[in-house]
Amino acid sequence: MKILDLAPNTGDFLAEALAGLRASPATLPCKYFYDAEGAALFEQICELPEYYPTRTELTILRSNLAEIAALIGPHARIVEYGSGAGEKIRMLLDTLEQPAVYTPIDISREQLLNSADLLQQDYPQIEVLPVCADYVTELTLPVPATSFSRSVVFFPGSTIGNFTPSDARAFLQRFYRLCQQGQQPGLLLLGYDLKKDPATLEAAYNDSQGVTAEFNLNLLRRINQELDGEFDISQWRHEARWNENSGAVEMHLISLQQQQAKLNGDTFHFTAGETIHTENSFKYHASDMQKLAADAGFNLVKGWTDSAQHFQVQLFEAKAQS
Ligand code: TRP
Repeated sequence: MKILDLAPNTGDFLAEALAGLRASPATLPCKYFYDAEGAALFEQICELPEYYPTRTELTILRSNLAEIAALIGPHARIVEYGSGAGEKIRMLLDTLEQPAVYTPIDISREQLLNSADLLQQDYPQIEVLPVCADYVTELTLPVPATSFSRSVVFFPGSTIGNFTPSDARAFLQRFYRLCQQGQQPGLLLLGYDLKKDPATLEAAYNDSQGVTAEFNLNLLRRINQELDGEFDISQWRHEARWNENSGAVEMHLISLQQQQAKLNGDTFHFTAGETIHTENSFKYHASDMQKLAADAGFNLVKGWTDSAQHFQVQLFEAKAQS
């Protein structure tokens, strides 16, 4: 399997980690969660009883697959941002009428290679063109040899929620440009988490088995292993906090005591209780996301939710360029 490799290197990781640690309050870039270890931990998160988003999205997709496939039509090119273990795409490919091209994009190289290989074996008639990248930067996707009817951006898993709303809008604009590739207007199939009671939201990111804590702490472990950092992992704990003002669950690493940590010759000081902010998971009302997508050039085709209204899947069509 050939793979277009645009992933960030160790130098990028160091520069971004240093910039984040120098900021006040301190932050660390969330894309570095997903090394092989982090990707495996995230797979475990998706199975946790408290983490409802993955299974709820799967249920919504499964229940409405035939309709979604009919709206997409034949010979589509599917571009998936954050393909992960590559499980959600299978049910879509199984239901679509002769899908032509599948481009999975993910930052976790090993996971991407494995899942793209397996997928190509199981779907020999589809052109699989994997891209390893931090997709926050503008990407030029590999041009398929197969002709296709339209581009369909598949962005599931509430990953849109890991951007600030204004970054999310910019990201949707990029999808809009991608949607111009193909004979018919492109589509966006978007899955995201809905606003709901804070207890349910916080529990999803503060699981009782501590898997999410391991996932968050894995960032510090990577800094120690790959960048020769000196963080005492035992002196940090994970916490997720619902921020009503911003509308996001915030992931933090909290310093258990006054301490210092070294990285690349710099020493960083932390007081007891001081936090490193690692990630946001913004939650939306369906109408708010619809507005954001409209700003970026998309019309809503149809939306689906679950019986508890925990999660939303929406299909958008790129408006004709004005
Ligand atoms: N897109 C996922 C979400 O926001 C990512 C995620 C799940 C996550 N659990 C996490 C990110 C814990 C950081 C820490 O739901």
